[in-house]
Amino acid sequence: MKQLRILTGITTSGTPHLGNYVGAIRPAIAASLDGGAESFYFLADYHALVKCDDPARVQQSTLEIAASWLACGLDPEKVYFYRQSDIPEIPELTWLLTCVTAKGLLNRAHAYKAANDANRASGEDADAGISAGLYMYPVLMAADILVFNAHKVPVGRDQVQHIEMARDIGQRFNHIYGGEYFTLPEAVIEDNVATLPGLDGRKMSKSYNNTIPLWLPEKDLRKALLGIVTNSQMPGEPKNPDDSNIFAIYQAFASADETAAMRKAYADGIGWGDAKQKLFERINVELAPMRERYETLISKPGDIEDALLAGARKARALAQPLLARLREAVGLRSLRDVASRSVEAKSARAEKPVLQPVVFRENDAFAFKVLDAKKTVIATKGGFIDPKAAMAAAREAMESLEAS
Ligand code: TRP
Repeated sequence: MKQLRILTGITTSGTPHLGNYVGAIRPAIAASLDGGAESFYFLADYHALVKCDDPARVQQSTLEIAASWLACGLDPEKVYFYRQSDIPEIPELTWLLTCVTAKGLLNRAHAYKAANDANRASGEDADAGISAGLYMYPVLMAADILVFNAHKVPVGRDQVQHIEMARDIGQRFNHIYGGEYFTLPEAVIEDNVATLPGLDGRKMSKSYNNTIPLWLPEKDLRKALLGIVTNSQMPGEPKNPDDSNIFAIYQAFASADETAAMRKAYADGIGWGDAKQKLFERINVELAPMRERYETLISKPGDIEDALLAGARKARALAQPLLARLREAVGLRSLRDVASRSVEAKSARAEKPVLQPVVFRENDAFAFKVLDAKKTVIATKGGFIDPKAAMAAAREAMESLEAS
């Protein structure tokens, strides 16, 4: 059994904030230290170009995000840590995948559809202001994942559809070119990590403009935390911790014992000023040593550049052999051996048992059949609630037929 591979990308278009730390950086680094899996973390700077056309911001964000991950304890010797644009195999694979991707699949992508709907609602042409980059975003993301044959992709809920599309696209390539070229990835939704409320109480997110940057100097961090909205209860009044943004953030940093003690303090009527001060102290204890490392790292951008380039070399050593196989598979081949190959290809094709899955409607449900090369039905089963389930079962049946 191959080693489990976990991969995730971070778009380099902003400044890391507390929500990124709690929701992505901290759990990912913990997972990478856990052993047992190979971890891939990369800076999705090609994806950043879809959202951001300010070159200075893309560069600065790349620096800040790379320094943040390293300061928080990511060990580039133990994981693959690289920048997307340092891996030319990714855009190369993007094209190979583009050519097997149904345009209709991309039409259904949530981000593209939302932009379409917004245009229609305001009476614009449906595609006004939508770049082909936005449209192709899921294919680039599929290439990110498939190029390293990742098994698991930890992402937020908003990205789940993209992982499903990567599966579809990988499966389609495997099917068309008749081989197990790609591992089909699965999304891992991090339900047990906290999503932090931001300054205004909504989810902390760059798009709400309510974030607290991760590396504020101590004084500014304290000031920012004081600005979080609370209700107007007075000191001495018992407060409901489960109704408090201050408490929600505290909990994301505190141990179980500390959290229990804070619950009691709320019941005993701690004032909001004190609660905020305690919150500041708790966060600062955790961040202070990392903040120091961050400052050191960011003052030597050349060292970060070196670390990323070393990471890219390591990652490319995996991607290059795969791309060589794929080029071969699709026919981007040397012309030197053309004669000998056509003979091989013919005999290989003749031997290959070709199974074909067919899904159809049966009564109120869906069913599948598997046909062999002579169109004889060699397996069939019904009673599936949707075509997707029937197709999945068909593929399973084909796998076990092919294995036997
Ligand atoms: N689209 C992801 C996001 O906005 C970032 C990303 C790019 C990514 N490529 C990826 C995440 C591959 C997981 C795997 O969050």
